[in-house]
Amino acid sequence: MSSSPDTFLTQLSAVASETEALIGHLLAAQSLDGERARPQRLLNAMRYASLNGGKRFRPFLVVASAALFNVPRQRALMAGAALECVHCYSLVHDDLPAMDDDDLRRGQPTAHKKFDEATAILAGDGLLTFAFDILARPETHPDAAVRVELVLALARAAGLGGMVGGQMLDLAAEGRFDGGKPKSFDEAGVATLQAMKTGALFRFACDAGAILGQANAAQRAALAQFGSVVGQAFQIADDLLDVESDAATLGKAAGKDAEAGKATLVGVLGMAKAKDRLHALVAQAEAALASFGASATVLKQAAHFVADRKS
Ligand code: IPE
Ligand code: IPE
Ligand code: MG
Ligand code: MG
Ligand code: MG
Repeated sequence: MSSSPDTFLTQLSAVASETEALIGHLLAAQSLDGERARPQRLLNAMRYASLNGGKRFRPFLVVASAALFNVPRQRALMAGAALECVHCYSLVHDDLPAMDDDDLRRGQPTAHKKFDEATAILAGDGLLTFAFDILARPETHPDAAVRVELVLALARAAGLGGMVGGQMLDLAAEGRFDGGKPKSFDEAGVATLQAMKTGALFRFACDAGAILGQANAAQRAALAQFGSVVGQAFQIADDLLDVESDAATLGKAAGKDAEAGKATLVGVLGMAKAKDRLHALVAQAEAALASFGASATVLKQAAHFVADRKS
């Protein structure tokens, strides 16, 4: 694998367009075996929420992790598309009035603004379920045991003890459930919340590459560590951008976290220390991949992108 500085951006952009095309194809109008019909409004909302130009950084991590083990690219793209469906659903629900109440996502009206709340809720539900449909298909991996392992790992990452659980803690921090009293989180508390709401899906991205590649225990542990650390870094960068950037650059609202009482590391540590932490995490992410040598160069570049990204 080439180690030119553009390698990462070139590969991210290739994965983004392949993922866009794959999800577009999977979410076609034609219903499949076992489905009765695909209601047009729901399909339109699911397509709107998933085909709207996200960075596709999580699918990139699946593809790049899987490439370490020479997994056929189409299999990694399928697992990446499944993960992206869960991510897009999480954004649709995260933006709902009952949650973060946002009007702008990826530079466009949020799903509930474009459609309506009920349609947005169902589009989220549909995308979540669809992710497991994708993982269960033989095109994702010919060995059913591998597919079951992917399904279990994504369920654990997305659900009660992962992303959804983290979203619950995120809302609890705002003080919604104790008569308006914000729940105070120390650094360790914020780390747990963020490891769940964001880190779990990043870790799954890297685990998925290792599962598809039937990697050994040491390789799996290294990728799991890399994914967790990159996830932590990604959310700190998101929280820094909320303070320092603007809606035009981000394609979503800025400057809302502090006012909402979100528990963030920026809130607990302050901007300067949060930036130090971000850079330390990038170094940890690189170190986690040491045993892969030069074949992991693009993943190491990806860790730097997380810290340097502007949107
Ligand atoms: C935003 O994720 C939500 C967080 C977990 C911080 P991304 O920044 O990956 O959003 P898209 O997919 O590129 O729009
Ligand atoms: C998102 O965190 C985490 C999710 C599980 C969607 P944020 O609420 O900070 O994400 P943005 O800033 O709205 O993208
Ligand atoms: Mg949120
Ligand atoms: Mg939000
Ligand atoms: Mg945010």
